[in-house]
Amino acid sequence: VDRRGFLRASAGLGGVALLGGCVLPEGFGPPVYVPPSDGTPFTLGVASGLHSASEVVLWTRVEPSLADGASTLGWTIASDPTMETVVASGTVEVSAASDHTAKVLVGGLQPDRSYWYRFGIAGAQSPLGRARTLPAAGAVTPLRLAFCSCQNWQSGWYNAWEGIAAEDLDAVVFLGDYIYESAGSAGIGDVRRDPVGESATLETYRAKYRLYRSDPSLRRAHAAHPLVPVWDDHEFKDNFNRYDVEVEDPARAQAGFRAWFEYMPVWPIDGFRIHRSLRWGSVGELFLLDTRQYRDIQADGHEAHGSFVGAGRTIRTAAAPDRSILGASQRAWLLDGLEGAQGDGVAWKLVGNQVMISPLRIADLDEPIFRQLDPTRPRHDGIYLNMDDWDSYLWERDLLLAHLHDRKIGDVGVLTGDVHSFWQASVRVDFDDLGSPFVLNEFVGGSISSTGPGILGDGARSIEPAPPAWSPPFRYVDFRRNGYGVVSVTPDRMTVAYRVCDVKFPGSPVLTSVRFLVNRGDPVPTVEYLNP
Ligand SMILES: [Fe+2]
Repeated sequence: VDRRGFLRASAGLGGVALLGGCVLPEGFGPPVYVPPSDGTPFTLGVASGLHSASEVVLWTRVEPSLADGASTLGWTIASDPTMETVVASGTVEVSAASDHTAKVLVGGLQPDRSYWYRFGIAGAQSPLGRARTLPAAGAVTPLRLAFCSCQNWQSGWYNAWEGIAAEDLDAVVFLGDYIYESAGSAGIGDVRRDPVGESATLETYRAKYRLYRSDPSLRRAHAAHPLVPVWDDHEFKDNFNRYDVEVEDPARAQAGFRAWFEYMPVWPIDGFRIHRSLRWGSVGELFLLDTRQYRDIQADGHEAHGSFVGAGRTIRTAAAPDRSILGASQRAWLLDGLEGAQGDGVAWKLVGNQVMISPLRIADLDEPIFRQLDPTRPRHDGIYLNMDDWDSYLWERDLLLAHLHDRKIGDVGVLTGDVHSFWQASVRVDFDDLGSPFVLNEFVGGSISSTGPGILGDGARSIEPAPPAWSPPFRYVDFRRNGYGVVSVTPDRMTVAYRVCDVKFPGSPVLTSVRFLVNRGDPVPTVEYLNP
């Protein structure tokens, strides 16, 4: 009996069957995952965050029911994985005020090095984790990051995290949808059940992080590599914008953002601000965006913003000046930061971005024949597929693209999540002028487990050829598989590989589907197809 048959048989019998750490409950439906415990209070493992050339962030959580009432947590960091050469240690208090999570900012470290750390409480030790410092200013050391997003608990097994754990990396960039606040459909194709349901309060957001972080593959990957996360919408609620944060649901937004900071190895810099940048000497700088909490209402309106397609009046709204996905303050920070990196001779400018910046335009109406019919047409008019992405903010995207061109900011790679599929495109400064120069490359890195167009099965493969015909075209799409991206950067070259896997069965292998090679100064990648 193969695994699929076994699962079906077990569910059909309505009994309870143990299968590699998961339990099929009475009746039909996907199994509820029971987190394995080694008996220590460190049930959610450990994580570290990149911070600076001399500092790292260490994270863990203590399960209070296993801690014998202890609240003083010890931490130790060493320069070797055997923990023989301890370079710093200390204690931190844990309490219910932060759901028994703990974060430590360790300073006084050497640049561009790995460190190993662990926590201890009430005689128990946490798993060993690895942290890293950034290189010193001006250093020339290659950089290697995984980037990923969208890990719906119910939709798939975290095979991608097993792949990430085994990679040789400086860090993992997570581009949002670390949790899904929704109750979920428990629908066809789900592999496990989310017992938390809808999250809308601090306690239910925390429960969601506890559930997701209990996955052993996820914990292995976090122990192996520093994490560099930003949120997208599902850490709070579907397709949110600043109206939701400021007017519609401020208390819920505060709860969602607070729980994120409790569970992420990110040292707060200013309230709930998450946009920040990390620089790897003169080789690369990574700008991490927040395209959610400051964004104006999507162009198709607040009530409609669960929808996707936009045309006509919606595009007129999208093109209106001053409409922003970043907010004025973050926009100024990004434009200045990109220009500063270029001025400082930083070779590669990487942008960690939630929603697609390449236009998803399925019909181009910014053509002379259409303009004759209606001369008032907005610039870039057309029919767009996803009004929740940068296509709702046409003025601001044009401003960013023009800034890259005008200030001669080259070698820009945008790393993107959100759409549960893989894409690649080179974007021109004016995407309606095919003679205008390319100013950035976008790499959309699939999803860890969330269901994408692949739910169409073979239908997904049949619609894949369509995007190259869109305006502008895409160089590569994969609607069928889950996975993540790996970006490797040297002073002369950026390489982006897409790793793909099946998520319906635990333990499915991870393959490289395609690899893009971008030489410095030449924005057009060459493509190697390995498992297309
Ligand atoms: Fe998602």
